[in-house]
Formats: sequence, C-alpha cells, structure tokens
Amino acid sequence: MSRPRTILLAALALLLAAAGPTAVPSPAAASDNGLSLRPAMGWSSWSFVRRQPTEAKLKAQADALVSSGLQDHGYVYINLDDFYQKCDANGFTVDQYGRWAVDEAKFPSGIKALADFIHSKGLKFGFYVTPGIAKNAVTRNTPIEGTSYHAKDIADTSKQEKNYNCKNMYYIDYSKPGSQEFVNSWARQFASWGVDYLKIDGVGSHDIPDVRAWDKALRASGRSINYALSNNLAIADAPTWRQLANSWRTQGDVECYCGPGPNGSGFPLTTWDKVATRFNSAASWQQYAGPGGWNDLDSLEIGNGDQVGLNADQRRSHMTLWAMAASPLLLGTDLTALTATDKAMLTNDRLIAVNQDGVAAGRIVNSGSQQVWSKREAGGDYIVALFNTGTSGNQTVSVNWSQVGFPGAAAVTDLWSGRSGPVVSGSYSATLRPGETRLIRATPQSSTAVRYEAENASYSAGSTVDSDHGGFSGSGFVNTPNAAGAYMEWTVESATANDTSIAIRYANGTAAGRPMDVAVNGAVVSAGRPFNGTGAWTTWADATLTVPLKAGSNTVRVTASTANGAPNLDYLDRG
Ligand code: GCU
Repeated sequence: MSRPRTILLAALALLLAAAGPTAVPSPAAASDNGLSLRPAMGWSSWSFVRRQPTEAKLKAQADALVSSGLQDHGYVYINLDDFYQKCDANGFTVDQYGRWAVDEAKFPSGIKALADFIHSKGLKFGFYVTPGIAKNAVTRNTPIEGTSYHAKDIADTSKQEKNYNCKNMYYIDYSKPGSQEFVNSWARQFASWGVDYLKIDGVGSHDIPDVRAWDKALRASGRSINYALSNNLAIADAPTWRQLANSWRTQGDVECYCGPGPNGSGFPLTTWDKVATRFNSAASWQQYAGPGGWNDLDSLEIGNGDQVGLNADQRRSHMTLWAMAASPLLLGTDLTALTATDKAMLTNDRLIAVNQDGVAAGRIVNSGSQQVWSKREAGGDYIVALFNTGTSGNQTVSVNWSQVGFPGAAAVTDLWSGRSGPVVSGSYSATLRPGETRLIRATPQSSTAVRYEAENASYSAGSTVDSDHGGFSGSGFVNTPNAAGAYMEWTVESATANDTSIAIRYANGTAAGRPMDVAVNGAVVSAGRPFNGTGAWTTWADATLTVPLKAGSNTVRVTASTANGAPNLDYLDRG
C-alpha cells in the first residue's frame, strides 16, 4: 500500500512478465497528479486542420464546439497539435531561452490570446510539444531561463529525437545540471499562456527521462495540465506511462493520410481498417486504464458524414469502441460542418455516460468478425457491446449472461436508440450488418440482492480507500495493511433468520494467496479461505459462500490469516 511497496511490486511484476508469457504484469499506480479522473473530451486540430493550423481556424472550431451544443455534452478541449511553430534550414526557430518560437503568420495574436479566447467560452486549451532541445538553441547556446546554464550544457548532440515537423531536435542529457530547469522553463511558459492539456508526441521508451522531466515540470508549473503521451507507446512500459501521465496513445495514427491534399490531408480522414485495428489494442491495454490514466485510441473521426471514410454503421462502432474502452474522445473532424446524423451520435448522452463511467471494458468474444465487449459499472449494471467488424455479410452475434458475469435475466436498454426492450433470460443476440454495433445496458434482475460497499463498512486501522485499480464498484475499494489480523467488517441486514448466499468481491494482483477467515456474528464459518491471485489488481473476482444470518443486523468479518494481509476488497453482495 505504501509507495515503495508499489514500486517493488511493479518491479516484481515486470520480472515475472519477463520470466514467461503466462505471467500478467500488475499495473503500477495511476499518476497522482489528480487530473483526468475521466477520459478527456474535446477536439484536436490534427486530423482535419492538419499542417495549417491558424488562430482563425482554431477560433472557428472553438466557436463551433460551443454553438453546436457539443460543449454542453462535455466536449471541452480545443487542442492545437503540431505545426504552430516556425522552421528555418536548421530546424525550429527558438525564443531567447531556446524554446520553440510560435509562427506569428499563423498565430498573429500569440498563443496566450488564443488560450484566453478559448477560456472565455468556458473551454480548455490543449497544446503540443516533442522531446528534446532544438538544434538552433544549441547553435546559439541560448541561456536556460532563470539559471546560469545554457543549451550546450544539456544537449546530447550525438542523437536526434523523433519529430514530425522541423526535426533537428537533439536529445537532452538529463544527468546534466540545467536539463530539468530547461523543461521547467518551457512548462512555465505553457502554464503562463493558459495551457490545460499537453500532448507530448514522438515519445518512445528511450524518452522515459523526457516523460519524467515533463511530468515534474508540469507539476512544478502550478497549473493543472492534463498530460498526454503520443504515440504508439510500448505496452511493456505501460506501468511507467500510467504512473507518469494521464493518457497514452496505444497505436500509431488513426488517420489514413489518403486524402487528396498535401501529405494526404483532406477527406477521407481515416478508413475502417485504421479504426478496426484498435479492437486488439483496446483489449490488450484494458488493464492499464482507470481514473487518472487512459488508453488513448486516437481521434474520433465523427462529424462530417461518410466523407471521413466511414459509413454511419462504422462510425457508431467507432464511437462504441472508444466509449467501451474509456478512451479520450477527441474529435478530429471539422466542427464547422457537422452533419445532423453525426451530431446526434456525438451528443448521445447514453454513449457519453458509458465513456465517462471510469471503467474500461474487456473483450469476452473474439471470433472472426464477431466481437463482444462488456464491463460492469459501479451501480451494478453491465454494459455490453456486440460488433460485426467485417465488411461484408450480416452476422448474428450472441453472448450468455454468464459470460458477461451474472446469472438469470436482465432488463435491456439499447443505448444507441434509448429503447428499453423486454427482460431477456440466459443470453442475448443481435443480427448485425457489416460494421454495425449493438450497445446495451443490462440490469440483472435479482430482486432481493443488496450490495454493501467496502468503503462504507468498517476496517482495521491503517487501511485506505483507494481507487487506483479500475473495475471496482462504488467510489473505491479498501486496501488493508499487509499483516495478519487485518480485517474488514460489514454489517448485513436480514429480514429473517436464514442461510443466505453472499459474494465478497476482491482483487489480488500477486501470485500468492491471501487467506482469510470469514466470521459471522463472531463465529468463524470458513477458516483460511484462499483468496488466490486474480491475475491483476484490476481483475476482480467473487468469493461466494452461504452464511447463517439471524433476523436483524449481522456482522460479517473477514480477517487475514497470514502476513500477506487481505486482498483488496470491493464489496459484499447479499443474495
Ligand atoms: C499494491 C497494490 C495495492 C495492494 C497492495 C498489497 O500496492 O497497488 O492496491 O493493496 O499492493 O499488496 O496489498
């Protein structure tokens, strides 16, 4: 539960992961910068505006975000991506402190004025940078603001960083004094301009020192800046991305670069293939998503009808996958030309609620072009998405409620249409056109069940209510001290004296069991129940047993019987 222990466990998990393909790495804690407790929503300039962003275009998109009503549904970021800078023959031109100069031809009033305009509309402003230090800063040996160091003191001119625009970015040698101060000075400038979101692009695993330095710098800037990493990040380093940033791109660009304009700009923006490859990465990265850190599947190419390169069925599938995966929803389209169909998709609050519930879904069926994804929300409902990912032929896609995670029957609401259907027993199926999806909310019909959240119960001193591992119900789970005797006690009501089934939801991200005694009203009814490893701290399992309850209030206490302590505990369900 303490930080060193977390780091130790993360290191152990990595060792285990290296040892064999069956070991599941345990995710490290999410960034504790307190930001992006839900996936970011807004717009980015890259897909449509691409290499020609201007003050006028950004303002027009901000205006459209507001006037279209998208802002009222939670889309608030206006993110300026690459190509706001100026190049000369040696790369980026720089300011007096070696930071990228802004192209005044594109942004005549400067970035602060643009941010002020965006803020005046109640929106937030996002900005863009890549790792390293510009060659022009090194050639001029510009001072590092507020220090006696200079660009030459910190640059490693033997290596060039990845950059998609003016290039000529040298590595920064973070062992050199002045290096952190250089990044701090850049972050300070962004903060003073009013930046609320920073995308650092061109990041690879060799850039972890830069990612760390920017994390420190953003925190030191005194402004809340949602910190996004891009692109095609290595899954092997997912625990590090998760610890340092609020989102990370799991793949390369969703754009097809197949339009008629320069460098493939213009419509179409994407293809179904570019979208469909994200199903696999959303599945493999699922365990790393949670409040404070999200798997970014890249821009949402919805807004301008079929010309984006997707038909309406495919666009609904695109948005369904992004919602299920709890990916940031950053539109790439032209908001000044929204079609009615697409506006209706983007403002569907049932879909947005699925995206913003803080839970990343897992894939439970993956068979040819048939996929089913599901997640359990804090309130106990299950969200289930069925897809036909193919490009020809209808498919009937089916799933059993037991695969989804509950027995019996469920009330079903179609989330795209909002229509409630009859109660469905056993299994659910839908016949889907190629590229079509069905997204439903399933409310299990178990009339007498009552949930007692762990965070509302009592527990041993030194326990914490945590939320750093996703998939829990309620507002968090209880993490008791790693010691024998650590306990959690629920008060459970019963109308009558009865043998009653209970389920205790827990996660144990270690390989070792966390045995506990289960006592009801002070008498042990199950000694040393194993509570074995669940594979990850984000993978929750039910320990079910039948216990004798008396009429009225009962105590159900679980007590760790070994020094490993208790697993993380989420709730007790009384059947
Ligand atoms: C990790 C994990 C905690 C867990 C702890 C433990 O620190 O993040 O949620 O409680 O290990 O071993 O109990």
